[in-house]
Amino acid sequence: MLSLNVNGKTVSVDAEPGTPLLWVLREQVGLTGTKYGCGVAQCGACSVHVDGQLMRSCVMPVSAVAGKRITTIEGLSADASHPVQKAWAEFDVPQCGYCQSGQIMAAVALLRAKPKPTDKDIDDAMTNICRCGTYQRIRAAIHQAAGTGKGSGNGSVFHLVGDAGGTAAVAANAADRTPAGDA
Ligand code: FES
Ligand code: FES
Repeated sequence: MLSLNVNGKTVSVDAEPGTPLLWVLREQVGLTGTKYGCGVAQCGACSVHVDGQLMRSCVMPVSAVAGKRITTIEGLSADASHPVQKAWAEFDVPQCGYCQSGQIMAAVALLRAKPKPTDKDIDDAMTNICRCGTYQRIRAAIHQAAGTGKGSGNGSVFHLVGDAGGTAAVAANAADRTPAGDA
């Protein structure tokens, strides 16, 4: 048995040490907001945070994250109230939704590192693939969350925001919009 800290809760899982974290999260912990896309660290659909760092969980052996703080899309907020989730909803970013949990996790990591990113910062950091081509809305939503978008308020909210780290409750909008049967 391995002990993991997922969204602020300790969970015990029975998995081979080399099992990718993605599959442990989805199949044992029951958090299906994190998606499988490529399985080879290329698309970003499986992005989570480990000790605050963006990681692609499809290539992360579960044994490597034992004792570390894992945050999934479900752990960003209990009610989709994280500023990035709110910006995503405001800009109606998702199309099919499949990639969007990973996109949001990547955006949160970017804004933690650079609370006022430029377009280039966003383009450089957001390497996740969206087969629906929502990149323009992703960029606009990141600017909105950063307070640098047209019509935004005066400042970034990101100096106030970290992982919720508490309850793993509802999935984000992106997870909710994944087509039925595609959990
Ligand atoms: S599923 Fe992990 S990067 Fe594509
Ligand atoms: S919204 Fe469909 S893959 Fe990104």
